[in-house]
Amino acid sequence: MTTPLLHVADLTKNFGGLTALAGVHIEVRSGTIHGLIGPNGSGKSTFINTVTGVIPPNSGQIVIDGRNVAGLRPNIVNAAGIARTFQNLRLFKAMSVLDNVLIGEHRHMGYGLGSALTMRNGEAERHVKDVAMGLLADVGLAHRAEAISGSLPYGEQRLLEIARALATQPKLLMLDEPLAGMNPTEMDRVVAILRRIVARGVTILLVEHAVRVVMSVCDRISVLNFGRNIAEGSPQEIQGNEDVVVAYLGRRRHVA
Ligand SMILES: Nc1ncnc2c1ncn2[C@@H]1O[C@H](COP(=O)(O)OP(=O)(O)O)[C@@H](O)[C@H]1O
Ligand SMILES: [Mg+2]
Repeated sequence: MTTPLLHVADLTKNFGGLTALAGVHIEVRSGTIHGLIGPNGSGKSTFINTVTGVIPPNSGQIVIDGRNVAGLRPNIVNAAGIARTFQNLRLFKAMSVLDNVLIGEHRHMGYGLGSALTMRNGEAERHVKDVAMGLLADVGLAHRAEAISGSLPYGEQRLLEIARALATQPKLLMLDEPLAGMNPTEMDRVVAILRRIVARGVTILLVEHAVRVVMSVCDRISVLNFGRNIAEGSPQEIQGNEDVVVAYLGRRRHVA
């Protein structure tokens, strides 16, 4: 067995008296799409928030590519190879689509916020722009490059968030409900994009409610309930898992 790209063990996060994560463990293998599912409030977003340094965990190990990043700041975690999107979008809505991706790229290169808007000339800058346009093409948004981000339909704003996250050249991309609010046609489009991203060597952790998509696209799935792991396996194993059915439906299945 090869070492996993992401190894999370004993991850615990308390909010006051509420335990959002209680000793969670998840291993994500390189080159896979790993699903993370569970009922509302089971800790999925808190998992992404603690792993990416947005909120500090109370305890636990978070090892990306051999480096423990538990408790480190988001920019350090990002530099170590993890990028993410947010369940509630965090784009610069008044800025163009292209500028949103350029900012992701510039942050990655350590230029700092704002340089993407002022450095318009020169060879290096043209290269940066080419990369950004390539990422927009990857998510099907090249024709929207000059549009104001906030004017895009919701589904396209989600795709833009993915392009901006990819601009930081992550090893692992964590997506928090990227299909929320999409119709089945839009979902299929995103699924194709996710497969392309993985084919290019980026591993994906996918938090998603659309069970049909999770089952069809994920190599492995971890299931949380009340901040604890309740199941882990292939889509087929998860579909047939009694504990998972109970967690989602809140009762035992009748045996016919
Ligand atoms: N910043 C926070 N402060 C207090 N409680 C929080 C915070 N974030 C999440 N929670 C609580 O932690 C639990 C897990 O939430 P969350 O991780 O958002 O679940 P999920 O993404 O699986 O729906 C919920 O009970 C939620 O209310
Ligand atoms: Mg959530």
